[in-house]
Amino acid sequence: MKKILVTGGAGFIGSHLVRLLVKKYPDTLFVNLDLLTYAGNLANLTDIQDYPNYEFVKGDIVDEEFIMATFDAYQFDGVIHLAAESHVDRSIASPKEFIMTNIVGTVNLLNAARFYWKDKYEGKRFYHVSTDEVYGSLGDEGKFMETTPYDPRSPYSASKASSDHLVRAYHHTYGLPVVISNCSNNYGPNQFPEKLIPLIINNIRHSKPLPVYGQGTNIRDWLYVEDHAKAIDLIYEKGVDGETYNIGGNNERQNIDIVKTLCRIIDRQLGRPEGESEKLITYVKDRAGHDLRYAIDATKIYENLGWQPEVQFNDGFEKTVAWYLENEKWLDEVTSGNYLKYYEKMYRDR
Ligand code: NAD
Ligand code: DAU
Repeated sequence: MKKILVTGGAGFIGSHLVRLLVKKYPDTLFVNLDLLTYAGNLANLTDIQDYPNYEFVKGDIVDEEFIMATFDAYQFDGVIHLAAESHVDRSIASPKEFIMTNIVGTVNLLNAARFYWKDKYEGKRFYHVSTDEVYGSLGDEGKFMETTPYDPRSPYSASKASSDHLVRAYHHTYGLPVVISNCSNNYGPNQFPEKLIPLIINNIRHSKPLPVYGQGTNIRDWLYVEDHAKAIDLIYEKGVDGETYNIGGNNERQNIDIVKTLCRIIDRQLGRPEGESEKLITYVKDRAGHDLRYAIDATKIYENLGWQPEVQFNDGFEKTVAWYLENEKWLDEVTSGNYLKYYEKMYRDR
């Protein structure tokens, strides 16, 4: 049986990807290796936990011995690497974990793949999941292409850029069969409510202030998470070794428009008077070094592999809001305890 290691499969994107893969490829064993940090949650995967081609292993990609032992035990044919510290604000407050997990953790996986594949790369693949933030910040014009020079500007994006370079270096130096994708902002169910959309939904639910950084005019290119998972599946199956693919939603929005749209949808879904939630919008101190605009040119993945987003923004947004409102238990659990401390620390002085 073919065996694929997915790292970070209990997180937001990872859980959507693992669900898709486990259901689509019953003859492949998928091993989900995840440390279950604050962002990892096995409740994201209850529907597939008993599938015969799925196993969960708790562990840290920074722990070299553990990674080698796991490769030794399973003899993986492939790796899809998503495990990371993923939140920009946390990276600004405390960069070191980002260096350890995103850089050292990635190198541990590259070394293990190299060691166990012993230069016999037929049928093997190392897929590194990365972000458009490595390209820096755009002005009013232009989009990120695969050829755009790297210009990371936060500790998070610098750590992801570093890991991208290392993955490419292992391809050029050792011939490791790698593919990389750089994707824009994802939204959808199961996203940890430190990120803009679930944070705002949760605050509207509790009629708490809605913190909008700066003027709210920064722009992100939003993609429904299941479209990202489908792109990763396609690139893993059909992508060309050594290549990079940009993935994006062709769906640019200013943050303030995202927040106002959420207010409107939630007021309607909860039967609140129109305009009630918008009164909660509070402009707060900007994020340090806040990138102005991200936008992806996804021509390459469309022309070479035939991928394009399937979920229209309005449908995806309605579905996303409905999911959080229907899964209040999930939201309540992840927003208790340490989350409250995190929120207090991040937003107290803003
Ligand atoms: P997430 O924070 O929701 O999940 C990260 C997962 O990694 C969690 O399950 C966590 O427990 C696990 N993890 C963290 N440190 C670990 C360690 N040391 N060892 C093992 N597991 C560890 O992140 P996400 O938003 O799902 O992002 C997944 C990947 O996709 C990341 O590499 C991120 O850089 C990339 N990405 C995210 C987005 C986005 O919009 N969220 C966009 C493009 C790329
Ligand atoms: O572009 C891909 C990246 O998108 C991923 O690589 C990251 O892992 C992911 O976290 C995301 O990064 P952003 O920084 O763009 O996402 P975030 O949800 O934190 O913020 C989105 C925008 O909203 C950004 O301009 C900052 C702003 N914002 C965010 C929060 C949390 C606010 O105005 N208020 C907030 O409270």
